[in-house]
Amino acid sequence: MINCLIIGSGGREHALAWKLKQSPQLGTLHCAPGNPGMAALAICVDLAFIDAPTVIDFCRQHTIGLVVIGPEQPLIDGLADHLRAAGIVCFGPSAQAAQLEGSKGFTKDLCAKYHIPTAAYQRFSDATAAKAYVTAQGAPIVIKADGLAAGKGVVVASSVAEAHVAIDSIMSTSGAALVVEACMVGEEASFFVLCDGTHVLPLAAAQDHKRVGDGDTGPNTGGMGAYSPAPVITPALIERTMDEIILPTVRAMAAERIPFIGVLFAGLMITADGPQLIEYNCRFGDPETQVLMLRMTSDLLPLLLAAATGTLDQHEVQWSQDVALTVVMAARGYPGPPLRGSEIRGLEALATDPDIVVFHAGTTRDGARLLANGGRVLNVTARAATVAAARQKVYAAIDKIEWPEGFCRRDIGWRAIGGNKPDVAGNQRNRGA
Ligand code: AMP
Ligand code: GLY
Repeated sequence: MINCLIIGSGGREHALAWKLKQSPQLGTLHCAPGNPGMAALAICVDLAFIDAPTVIDFCRQHTIGLVVIGPEQPLIDGLADHLRAAGIVCFGPSAQAAQLEGSKGFTKDLCAKYHIPTAAYQRFSDATAAKAYVTAQGAPIVIKADGLAAGKGVVVASSVAEAHVAIDSIMSTSGAALVVEACMVGEEASFFVLCDGTHVLPLAAAQDHKRVGDGDTGPNTGGMGAYSPAPVITPALIERTMDEIILPTVRAMAAERIPFIGVLFAGLMITADGPQLIEYNCRFGDPETQVLMLRMTSDLLPLLLAAATGTLDQHEVQWSQDVALTVVMAARGYPGPPLRGSEIRGLEALATDPDIVVFHAGTTRDGARLLANGGRVLNVTARAATVAAARQKVYAAIDKIEWPEGFCRRDIGWRAIGGNKPDVAGNQRNRGA
């Protein structure tokens, strides 16, 4: 039996806890800090997880056999390095390997050196030079801050003037470095693999919905809903993604003596020329994990343990034929400052259907009351034979939740269901190339 500790408190970590809880190999499950949803499955502990010595002490006291680090920040800060140095088995990349997410410049340079298909780019530390380059290239063009920016550091500029404004704004707020990229055209999808430094176990594809509003309008968010599998990534495209993007990256990291251990999350643009890398994340996606966990029929615990201990070549992963779809319910104000403290009722009524799971993110308890305490608050997730059926189940469930201060998108899954996007201007936009 293996005692596990999950670090994090979002919908992603609730989904991981829900899945690990089903493992016959699980001993006790701890979560730090966890959330009210996770508290129903695990012992939640209020560890200051940035503080590695506290986590190490906790792991020793509770004979933790596997630590699973959910969010990117503790990875980028080196928590996995500290744990491994203390002899604690940990699922998650080193700080150096987490640069795949933490530094866009690092990733772009790696792609260039190892011929991994991605948009052409230049790095700049000077606004004047960046503007001159943009003027020479023309629009559309993409401007990115070279660091973690919670999805807010990227501007897809449709004019040179807009690009210049973005350069000034990034240079004034995010410090010194930015990347200017060619604009890729196509449909976006995410692909996930587990890595143990050497071996790669492909998981599955999913599609997120990054904009806050229906019809993919409004500002970017952490993700407002997702489904898996993503029909845009056909088996042939998965093979190309593995051969042209994932495997070359994992080999490159090993060759650079920065082996990647954990989950590698590729943000892809499916262009007319095939899959191209938009970005890497060094951790599970949120809300993509919620749908992956509902579809995975294999035991997750041995897979994460194998990734952490270099034995992933001895494992396979099985998936349900069903589709899973999740819709994020967010508090009013999100992605700006969310309204906190409003009460959520009616979740108990949903607990009877095994194909519907409500994962918590920004929730808190006040006695028996469940309150909103963050931007993304709930992930209402369902499994069914088709995207349309899963979506119908999710929205029927959402309609039973009493939370007037919350909102959600009503069109999650539109690409897979409708094909055409209802454009705000009233036009129909074709599916990506
Ligand atoms: P990132 O933080 O790099 O994932 O970028 C956020 C979003 O910006 C992506 O999900 C894409 O929608 C868009 N994006 C980023 N890079 C490009 C690119 N080179 N071409 C087109 N769109 C992009
Ligand atoms: N849903 C996108 C992310 O986790 O970064």
